[in-house]
Amino acid sequence: MVRILCAVAIVTIIGLAAFGAITLYDETMQVGRMWETPAIRPHEEPLPVMAGGSVPYSDGEIFLRTADPDTLKPAFGLDDAQTIAQGKLNYRYFCIHCHGPNYDGYGTVGQSFAPKPGDLRSARVQTLPIGRLFHEISYGIPNGRQPALATTIAIDDRWRIIAYIKTLGVRP
Ligand code: HEC
Repeated sequence: MVRILCAVAIVTIIGLAAFGAITLYDETMQVGRMWETPAIRPHEEPLPVMAGGSVPYSDGEIFLRTADPDTLKPAFGLDDAQTIAQGKLNYRYFCIHCHGPNYDGYGTVGQSFAPKPGDLRSARVQTLPIGRLFHEISYGIPNGRQPALATTIAIDDRWRIIAYIKTLGVRP
């Protein structure tokens, strides 16, 4: 009987010691536990202050998309040489594989489209208001195959491409 009591006492002591050691380890360990993640204790720290302009309230994609394409204009002029040069570079990044090096729609990728990419030096494109061109490039052509590139090309870069395209003139 005494033996059994001794054994129980020893097991209890070992158990309590193990529990104490684990608790101490838990409380002093450097890394967090799953139950202590910010996910279950939100707002204990002040929310980080957002950088100004993170949430647009005067311009940005949604305003451009809903703006009247006939009067839509960029915030900067489109006849600056640097703007046009950057537009040329952007054309090579984003358009040339479909619209081709001669802007006539004979790009390698463009050949697999039906209808094929249009001629960017056609009278239609060259006389189209810049805001309409912006809408076609950004949100696609309704029922057409021009891809919507709003999430691919930055807003200002889209305007620069338009600046460049407008310098090409109507094909003679
Ligand atoms: C993945 C291929 C592809 C890419 C990339 C592409 N386009 Fe197009 N684009 C097309 C196709 C196809 C059409 C014909 C659309 C239609 O009529 O349905 C088209 C039509 C157009 C039109 C209308 C032409 C017309 O005759 O009315 C313009 C303007 C245009 N693209 C500009 C651009 C510009 C600028 C870029 C680069 C920012 C670009 N596209 C990138 C495939 C592409």
